[in-house]
Amino acid sequence: MRILVTGGAGFIGSNLVRELQKTYPEAEIVVVDNFTSGCFENITDFKGEFVTGDISKREFWEYMAKNYRFDVVFHQAAITDTTVTDQELMMLVNTQSFKYLLDAALKRWNAKVIYASSAAVYGNCPAPMREEGCLKPENVYGFSKLMVDRLAQKYLKLFPDVSIVGLRYFNVYGPGEGCKGKFASMIYQLALKMIRGEKPRLFKWGEQKRDFVYIKDVIKANLLAMERDVRGIFNIGSGKARSFNELVAILNEVLGTSLEIEYFDNPYKFYQNHTEADLTKSRKILGYNPEWSLEEGVRDYIKGYLKNNL
Ligand SMILES: NC(=O)c1ccc[n+]([C@@H]2O[C@H](COP(=O)([O-])OP(=O)(O)OC[C@H]3O[C@@H](n4cnc5c(N)ncnc54)[C@H](O)[C@@H]3O)[C@@H](O)[C@H]2O)c1
Repeated sequence: MRILVTGGAGFIGSNLVRELQKTYPEAEIVVVDNFTSGCFENITDFKGEFVTGDISKREFWEYMAKNYRFDVVFHQAAITDTTVTDQELMMLVNTQSFKYLLDAALKRWNAKVIYASSAAVYGNCPAPMREEGCLKPENVYGFSKLMVDRLAQKYLKLFPDVSIVGLRYFNVYGPGEGCKGKFASMIYQLALKMIRGEKPRLFKWGEQKRDFVYIKDVIKANLLAMERDVRGIFNIGSGKARSFNELVAILNEVLGTSLEIEYFDNPYKFYQNHTEADLTKSRKILGYNPEWSLEEGVRDYIKGYLKNNL
């Protein structure tokens, strides 16, 4: 099996590569990245070929189409800094690249494509969010992912034989996200502060809710998407919305601290107040059943990794 992972030096991509190497030791794996937000430290144990390239360039995909062949493409590469306001850049890297990728993967390689979408496509739509329900991105990042989904849906309709699976990740956390700096998860940011003994800071009044999903569940979803005969778009979350206040209570518990929260005004005009995945479709068709509660995921992350890797 020949597998391409774009964004393999990033948080989710590097965890995926590690799992693929373990589960499919015979597979030939190629990673593509240009280190916009990834870092080599994430994949020092990678045994395959690394291709340094910019996915937003048509020539890059022409080169890939000509010189490689793949059975499966996992597409994780994207601008993941959701505060980028350069609309043209965001669309070139996140959306236009996907068109080039689909043309190479489907027309040249006949490969299955599994790509990362995002809960950002839902914006402040009512929770729990359903794949076929309300879609209203609040920023150009969310819009770029919605346009990727639209392109996937167009191809799925036009070509009934192609396999494309979109995974709409909610708020992913876990080992390997450190390279993202201030765009790593709130769990990472709060844990770092609290490990240093500093008070956690939240937007007033900490009751905004997120569907936090542990990286191990996200990687499992990717493998299910590859192994099962499925196509379409699926929510990948924990299926539960938890408040930031609850998160700090869990962190205090796991770290053995009792740090008080400092609240401050939210400076963002657009902000998702409540994200929560409706997992009905993912459970039924993809066979996805998240196993990690927030309590267990945070414990596993902090005790098993974060405390030893600061
Ligand atoms: N982490 C989350 O909570 C979350 C939530 C929803 C969706 N997603 C999506 O999941 C995917 C992976 O996200 P992540 O959290 O691992 O982020 P990440 O920033 O760690 O990974 C993205 C990777 O893409 C690479 N990249 C960016 N631009 C590139 C380009 N032009 N050419 C080649 N490589 C490029 C980066 O260097 C990085 O390694 C992204 O598509 C992201 O939008 C993530």
